[in-house]
Amino acid sequence: MEQTIYRGLDGVHIDTTTISQIDGQRGELVYRGYDIRELADKASFEEVAYLLWHDDLPNRAQLDAFHRELAANFPVPEPVFEALRNVPAGAHPMHAIRSAVSLLGALDPEAEGVDSHNVHRIGLKLLAQFATFTAAYARIRDGKAPVAPDPELSVAGNFLYMLNGERPTPAATRVMDVALVLHAEHGSNASAFVARATASTLTDVYSAISAAVGALKGPLHGGANVGVMQALEQIGSVEGIEPYVVDTLGKPNGRVMGFGHRVYKVMDPRAIILKDVAHHLAEESGDSKWFEMSLEMERVMDREMDKKGKQVKPNVDFFSASVYRMLGLPRDMYTPIFAVSRISGWMAHLYEQYANNRIMRPRLVYEGPVGRTFKAIEQR
Ligand code: CMC
Repeated sequence: MEQTIYRGLDGVHIDTTTISQIDGQRGELVYRGYDIRELADKASFEEVAYLLWHDDLPNRAQLDAFHRELAANFPVPEPVFEALRNVPAGAHPMHAIRSAVSLLGALDPEAEGVDSHNVHRIGLKLLAQFATFTAAYARIRDGKAPVAPDPELSVAGNFLYMLNGERPTPAATRVMDVALVLHAEHGSNASAFVARATASTLTDVYSAISAAVGALKGPLHGGANVGVMQALEQIGSVEGIEPYVVDTLGKPNGRVMGFGHRVYKVMDPRAIILKDVAHHLAEESGDSKWFEMSLEMERVMDREMDKKGKQVKPNVDFFSASVYRMLGLPRDMYTPIFAVSRISGWMAHLYEQYANNRIMRPRLVYEGPVGRTFKAIEQR
């Protein structure tokens, strides 16, 4: 019988969801009915995380209670810091982040339960602690002591505070908050799919989230933001962009990082917002190099892709790279920062998955040899 193969699961719907909706033709992203543009403009990351986990935005009392619950969970157990101190210098930070998640699972005597109460308890803990152990790791590997979280600060403010050891300005906190809002959720992307597929075996939350961290690390997914800055640094000037892009596209399977998307056929709405943020930061700081190089890359990609009749536009990872650079964040922490935000979306998917589970078990079409005769080892 002829089987239909959907390579890369392109066009396959694995279930229904009420978390978010993407319109790839119109370039729209909606979290539970709210347009991402309005959320980025008006909502905090905490409001958005609450929205993703509940039916609607919180009222003031609900938001205050959510913040108190998060703040109570900000501190990370000492054995996690101890493990982070043992990560070898030069290791990819996402290995450290994934290990921290695994260790939190090992340290949790109630790790196994997948009832909604326990999944929410763990979700709250992970949402609160991702920022803490990510910032701590960035300091530990530089030989500095971790900075204890401040229960009065937001996730965005705390992350910058714990990373730099000094209070962030309201403007820097707001930029970080917008970046977290924009990275929080994106449907059945590779890491959310992996989280759901892992959870579909009814294994624990920590296992599903560490699998998701592993998927996010890849250069075709969350690792692309690091790839964008690596390319910009390597190129070094606006003049170098054109030859770099033309040369990259001329190679077999040549990819320019931060461009293209499975779902969006127009520019990713998150990239449009981050482009504005990058523009603003460039004007304010007087350091417009990264933004100008990014604009040139966008121009040359548009021209080259038009020639091929393809729609390959900037995605969320493209302008986030120069935004993070202008915020002074270390390059190799860009993907971990993605995870600090995306834990909110992953958890929303786990709530849905555990609540209405069916194991994910797709199939492969076998094309290998058949009917072979076994030979004893001496005769092979
Ligand atoms: N540079 C050059 N050509 C590209 C790019 C790119 N970044 N992206 C897509 N194309 C071309 C590709 O060559 C292909 O051409 P053809 O049809 O002739 O083979 C066509 O566009 C379609 O690409 P595809 O690889 O079939 O598309 P996909 O849906 O399988 O892959 C993608 C999507 C995001 C993996 C891909 O666009 C890519 O590799 N982008 C670079 C990495 C990147 O920026 N990833 C971040 C994704 S968004 C946020 C996130 O998930 O973290």
